[in-house]
Amino acid sequence: MNIFAVETSCDETSVALVSNGEVRSNVIASQTKLHAEYGGVVPELATREHLRNFLPIARQALREAGLAPSDLDAVAATQGPGLPGALLIGLKAGQALAFSLGKPFLGIHHHEGHLYSPWISGSPPGADFSQFQPSVSLIVSGGHTLLVHVKAEFQHQVLGSTVDDAAGECFDKIGKLLGLAYPAGPEMDRLAAQGNPRAWSFPRPMLHDPGDDFSFSGLKTSVRYFLEKQPDLPGDPARLRDLCASVQTAIVEVLVTKTIRAARRLAVGCVTVSGGVACNSLLRRRLSEECQEEGLNLRLAERIYSTDNAAMIGILAERKLLAQVPATSLDAEIEPNWAL
Ligand code: KG4
Ligand code: ZN
Repeated sequence: MNIFAVETSCDETSVALVSNGEVRSNVIASQTKLHAEYGGVVPELATREHLRNFLPIARQALREAGLAPSDLDAVAATQGPGLPGALLIGLKAGQALAFSLGKPFLGIHHHEGHLYSPWISGSPPGADFSQFQPSVSLIVSGGHTLLVHVKAEFQHQVLGSTVDDAAGECFDKIGKLLGLAYPAGPEMDRLAAQGNPRAWSFPRPMLHDPGDDFSFSGLKTSVRYFLEKQPDLPGDPARLRDLCASVQTAIVEVLVTKTIRAARRLAVGCVTVSGGVACNSLLRRRLSEECQEEGLNLRLAERIYSTDNAAMIGILAERKLLAQVPATSLDAEIEPNWAL
């Protein structure tokens, strides 16, 4: 089975070709540089860029996979949640392709796709469900922070999410206060590696709340007040590194503690992680340490499948087709606020 998959929910245009659980190509055009000068994603610019990128990316993905449109058995695209204009480009392009080929079309939930990214690995990359078991999955990006109980394939329950900012948004907004370029997460990670994580203690919001929700805006506000008293700090490389390390430690401690606590409570044997913030080196290290101590199997998505990509959409679409989940109507519309 050959699946043509599209992802355009935010600022990455991606097309992947997936065949029998294998990722034959996964082309991603990131718009990060375009949005950097505005300090965040500008929805209208993202939409236009998807429109400009889609055909070249689609051709490249087909070429790299060695497939022609006539080889396709189904088309899938992210239906939501995401930026309305951005989603519209990928969904309608995918539906048009499916319509022209007379093949099934599947509208895929972006977060359900993220649940599959930790299961893509190997060379050539493919879906590895050999160790699949009930898990607690952390999806952590610039737009979302979600904790999900995956009970079985296609059976999941959202345990908690952020009540305000996402964890990646917290990195990006604090980075902006520090004068770092958008998105600031990777640069804060790099600076934090040489800083003292105990230089200052920032709030760990909702850490002791018994529920599974997160909150990060209080941490950002606390750093803003702190910087008002120390306006010269961003210009001092040593103190800047210490601040990044202290902030990163606060964010990671909340994410790790709540994820492990949920895994223990639900007695699952596995923790999975995906989303852009899953690239954070401290988060990866702390989760590995904690999971080892708790005897939990940990599956971290590879970096290329952590950030937004069409491969995860294609892998899930194929699983749905194999499980005979009915195809989505060609008339289906985007779902910008689709709950998981
Ligand atoms: O999944 P993604 O590419 O896009 C969405 O937000 O949907 O995630 C991007 C987010 C940004 O907030 C970025 O700062 C953050 O992931 N990020 C990181 C790291 N790499 C990316 N945050 C912390 N440490 C990193 N190494
Ligand atoms: Zn995402």
